[in-house]
Amino acid sequence: MKIILTGTPGTGKTTVAKKLSEELEVPVIDLNQLLSREYVIEKDTERESLVVDVERAVSEIKLPAECIIEGHLAHFLDSKFVVVLRCKPKELTQRLKNKNWPIKKVKENIEAEALNIISDEARDMNDKVFDIDTSHKSPAEVVEMVKTAIKGKLKAEKYDFLELL
Ligand SMILES: Nc1ncnc2c1ncn2[C@@H]1O[C@H](COP(=O)(O)OP(=O)(O)OP(=O)(O)O)[C@@H](O)[C@H]1O
Ligand SMILES: [Mg+2]
Repeated sequence: MKIILTGTPGTGKTTVAKKLSEELEVPVIDLNQLLSREYVIEKDTERESLVVDVERAVSEIKLPAECIIEGHLAHFLDSKFVVVLRCKPKELTQRLKNKNWPIKKVKENIEAEALNIISDEARDMNDKVFDIDTSHKSPAEVVEMVKTAIKGKLKAEKYDFLELL
């Protein structure tokens, strides 16, 4: 199975993907790394980010049958199984500050998370989408929840963090 792990920066995709990969013995594909190697259109200097050709990437990237694909654009790829990692504004702010992100970018991402942008995008594109709230959980607990979802035993939940902004 192709497992997509998506979510706003700082929600824990890389951390969870690594642990899940060790437990399931399935390789991880870092989508951002792949995109930055082959699909950059331009550099957005103001936002300190790369603009990538997602459409071309989606049509060209061939994924192995069994893998974990992690990245904040991973839900644009074709998969039957998508996990959106979520995090409440207060904890996400702390996580991004710990990564030394500039305050402007922290704010941008907190807003995007509170507006459920990635979660809604993922639902527009895929049938089976599981949101997991990682706030106040350990990475190990989140990994267990992903495994429960794979077994078809996780209740599909939707979160709205807007009022917590
Ligand atoms: N329940 C949790 N699940 C995942 N990460 C957690 C959790 N609780 C705390 N963390 C911490 O939050 C941080 C998440 O960082 P990580 O790099 O994994 O996020 P990311 O979603 O890959 O971000 P980016 O999109 O910037 O690559 C790590 O320092 C991790 O230890
Ligand atoms: Mg990451």
